[in-house]
Amino acid sequence: MGRMASPAHELESAVREALTRVQDPEIRRPITDLDMVRSVDIDGAGAVTVGLLLTVAGCPLKDTLRTDIEAAAGGVPGVTSVTVDFGVMSDGQRRDLQAKLRGGGSPEPVIPFAQPGSRTRVYAIASGKGGVGKSSVTVNLAAALAERGLDVGVVDADIYGHSVPRMLGVDQPPTQVQDMIMPPQSHGVKVISIGMFTRGNAAVVWRGPMLHRALQQFLADVYWGELDVLLMDLPPGTGDIAISVAQLVPSAEILVVTTPQQAAAEVAERAGAIALQTHQRLVGVVENMSWLELPTGERMDVFGSGGGAQVSAALTKLVGADVPLLGQIPLDTRLRQAGDEGKPLVLTEPDAPASTAMRKVADRLAVRRDSLLGKPLGLSPARP
Ligand SMILES: Nc1ncnc2c1ncn2[C@@H]1O[C@H](COP(=O)(O)OP(=O)(O)OP(=O)(O)O)[C@@H](O)[C@H]1O
Ligand SMILES: [Mg+2]
Repeated sequence: MGRMASPAHELESAVREALTRVQDPEIRRPITDLDMVRSVDIDGAGAVTVGLLLTVAGCPLKDTLRTDIEAAAGGVPGVTSVTVDFGVMSDGQRRDLQAKLRGGGSPEPVIPFAQPGSRTRVYAIASGKGGVGKSSVTVNLAAALAERGLDVGVVDADIYGHSVPRMLGVDQPPTQVQDMIMPPQSHGVKVISIGMFTRGNAAVVWRGPMLHRALQQFLADVYWGELDVLLMDLPPGTGDIAISVAQLVPSAEILVVTTPQQAAAEVAERAGAIALQTHQRLVGVVENMSWLELPTGERMDVFGSGGGAQVSAALTKLVGADVPLLGQIPLDTRLRQAGDEGKPLVLTEPDAPASTAMRKVADRLAVRRDSLLGKPLGLSPARP
């Protein structure tokens, strides 16, 4: 005959069960899985005290955790009050957590996306020239993909630019657990940028090997979790970073951004030459700043026309595989404003033509990693 559980025991297991639904806001896993719950004490009157171990002292999300724990435990029948007693993990406990998050604890930092079994689709956003809208396209695609329920990460690999955090409204610095960096999140997108590791806007003057190392660190030491899609915003041109990306994540596919005006052959040759050299797949071309819609409904070709189609045709010829024009994004002053305000246009003005065009491109990118034929995920669009 089994031992009967006492009511006090039952109440404690009910509280512990409720705590499995509380997630660490940064790591996004239940606090119970992360060994953060040190103790659960309940007195005779139903007053609960949860002993919680923070991963770092002065954790900025302490209040969120307190509120979530109070709500979860407070909802258990029989509980009259909830107090959270915060502590901080020891170095040993942090190391254990780190090993657990890495899933085994191999000492060599590995880039999860470069592993053969990786299910994360990696896109490197590239262009021949600067200022064509790579970062704007990156953040809007990221937000559109996250809105569909995909797990999305963005690496701002533009060491000199780092405009991505601003465009996504990320003002929180990443926190560190031992050697692992927890990326801040905004609009459901995990973001890491070199800008987060430099004070203010101090220009970072780094040379090739340091750039390579920094990128390697972004990819290996950042705890991304299981991402569906990782977007990497590259600096313009065919610099060191593009080569590093190819070396570090050979499976990264290149998305070329161009304007209608650009000397198509030149851009195509550069991007194509890299792709041929590194055996990377060119996933397609996005034409940005395609036209301005006038109040009369007329389209004004501010920067000429046909650049995207030309680049697509030239790249297709060069690599001998279809490199489609995935979309044309019109000019919209709201797109710039939204970026300045830290909210991508696809979220602030979902019905703007530029947003619709961005979502159409996102549709084409939201494919399962294991389907090389590019089968769509079968997700229904966020709006008709
Ligand atoms: N479709 C658009 N309509 C209006 N403004 C746009 C559009 N696309 C980009 N912009 C604006 O153009 C400027 C350059 O865009 P962005 O920073 O995204 O380009 P980039 O290619 O990342 O530049 P860089 O090469 O400097 O990294 C920004 O001010 C942005 O807000
Ligand atoms: Mg940029």
